Amino acid sequence: MDIRIGDMIERVLDVFRAQFETKGIYLDSKGIDGTVRVYADPEKLIQVVRNLMQNAYEYTISGGTVKIYTQSMNQDIQVVFANTGVEVAEQDLPFIFERFYRGEKSRSREHGGAGIGLAIVKELVEAHNGKVGAQIHNDETRVWFSLPINPS
Ligand SMILES: Nc1ncnc2c1ncn2[C@@H]1O[C@H](COP(=O)(O)OP(=O)(O)O)[C@@H](O)[C@H]1O
Ligand SMILES: [Mg+2]
Repeated sequence: MDIRIGDMIERVLDVFRAQFETKGIYLDSKGIDGTVRVYADPEKLIQVVRNLMQNAYEYTISGGTVKIYTQSMNQDIQVVFANTGVEVAEQDLPFIFERFYRGEKSRSREHGGAGIGLAIVKELVEAHNGKVGAQIHNDETRVWFSLPINPS
């Protein structure tokens, strides 16, 4: 299905908004382009966005910031979830997309999943010919995925 990915992210965001507010996390979604379209299974794409949103919620401390933005790069659109807080060492970042991998700190948390959220993200994104990745910049974690833009 042809999907405006930015609009979809905004809809998922609406479901999470109160939760973020209660935890005292500042949400910045100004950088989402609502016009770019991708060809995807909507249910699966929602699952991807929901898992990334859940992590951003979980791993951001109260008073922190979650920034969600998109950037078009050649034929692809990249969706970036950037949040304050670092849970994993830089050299361990490639492993966060592996099944059952959980950061050292994350394991001792009361809440949190079973370490499969990002493995599902990777699987679903790659099934749509997309890519995933993660970086750390100063005290910020960035987790992203990209998908081919559906040309009009
Ligand atoms: N937004 C994020 N900020 C910081 N660390 C993250 C973020 N998302 C994921 N991680 C790290 O990657 C690990 C794997 O994430 P995930 O597959 O969703 O499993 P889970 O959330 O169940 O631990 C987490 O345990 C955490 O250490
Ligand atoms: Mg998770």
